Amino acid sequence: MSTPRVRHDDLLAHRDDFPLLSRSVYLNTCSLGARSERSRRRLAAYLDDWDTLGARAWYRRWLGELDGLRDDFGAVIGVPGREITLAPNVSVALAVIASALDAVHRGDPDTARLLRAAGLDAGPTPRPRVVTTALDFPTVGHQWLARAALGVELVVIPSPDGISVPLDAFAEAIDERTALVATGHVYFTTGARLDLRPLADLCHDRGALLLVDAYQATGIIPTDVVADGVDLYVSGALKWLFGGSGTAFAWVRPALHPALVPTTTGWFSSARQFAFAVDELDFAPDGRRYELGTPSMPSAAIARGGMDLVREIGVERLGERTGDLGDLLVSHAERARLVVRGPRVAARRGGIVPIGVADPKPVVDALADAGIIVDFRPGIVRCSPAFYNTEEEVELLVERLAHVVPAEDHAVSSG
Ligand SMILES: Cc1ncc(COP(=O)(O)O)c(C=O)c1O
Repeated sequence: MSTPRVRHDDLLAHRDDFPLLSRSVYLNTCSLGARSERSRRRLAAYLDDWDTLGARAWYRRWLGELDGLRDDFGAVIGVPGREITLAPNVSVALAVIASALDAVHRGDPDTARLLRAAGLDAGPTPRPRVVTTALDFPTVGHQWLARAALGVELVVIPSPDGISVPLDAFAEAIDERTALVATGHVYFTTGARLDLRPLADLCHDRGALLLVDAYQATGIIPTDVVADGVDLYVSGALKWLFGGSGTAFAWVRPALHPALVPTTTGWFSSARQFAFAVDELDFAPDGRRYELGTPSMPSAAIARGGMDLVREIGVERLGERTGDLGDLLVSHAERARLVVRGPRVAARRGGIVPIGVADPKPVVDALADAGIIVDFRPGIVRCSPAFYNTEEEVELLVERLAHVVPAEDHAVSSG
């Protein structure tokens, strides 16, 4: 087996911009992307504006910064910034979306009519079900478990191989009671990537909507939500967008806005936010319709620093280098007889390469003692090299893993 080639070495010129990278061998971007000095500069500018302008900074700077952030997020999924909804985290974005689906679950006839106008024939009968998978991040399913008292049922599709969920399994689970399929673009433990278009077509044929949790994909998988037929998309800045905590976003296909009226809301969603009319609620005609209250501007400033870099380099190159480093990791790991519990080829993967270990915590601790940072989930050590990592760092990781992973977790040699 030849060693995979890693492209875009020129991107290593950005390493000096990430202080964390000189302090550790950092291979945990799927948990928290490293921070670039661009974010520090953006944050310093925010603090200066606060000190100079006080509350006037909202109108002179910060509302414009939020529009800039919406443009940044829109640019990486192929839509205009005005269609983006900002949220403090994915869970909040999902909670607002879930509130807007209650009328679909009930089979409200007006909502059915508005969905039909948006091209989805859901019919006027109740659709109490939401389909997700056993590989999805818990907050996705929890939104609808929390609505059990409203009659909402969560259907969880198991994964036959523990790595991904085939389209056939979705086809079996989606029926005329299904309002929504909510699943990940890349699964957070196995790194497996989902093909969005075939799943979107399947959902729409059956009158169901598709929601994609793309937290582990945005920034490394070039995405066009419109071409992919996605209805609802949620993601955030924390990982592959190098933008820290406190900033996430959603996109709701604009044609669905009239049908999906939120019942969880706040004054940032109002069309006339600065009219301060307590007795009037006209939702904004754009993505702000699903927003809540005052956003965290320090978080937004830090996130914009990450997005400056992502937009400058481009998702395609970021994804290619991340995929190549993942292939290199898989190839070295298999040579070292470590067990890869995720897809072996970049085309089927996001940025995560899971190594099977029955008791992973001591392994992750031993690596941290050696200055190598990865994390764990039940039964796996989660490794996630990003564009700023070197081939030598990946080799060092596998060399140390080969030493510290217990013998019983190694693959049985065929020789
Ligand atoms: C796939 C996925 N979805 C969602 C989240 C987090 O959601 P939230 O922003 O609500 O913390 C994560 C990781 O933290 C994730 O990996």
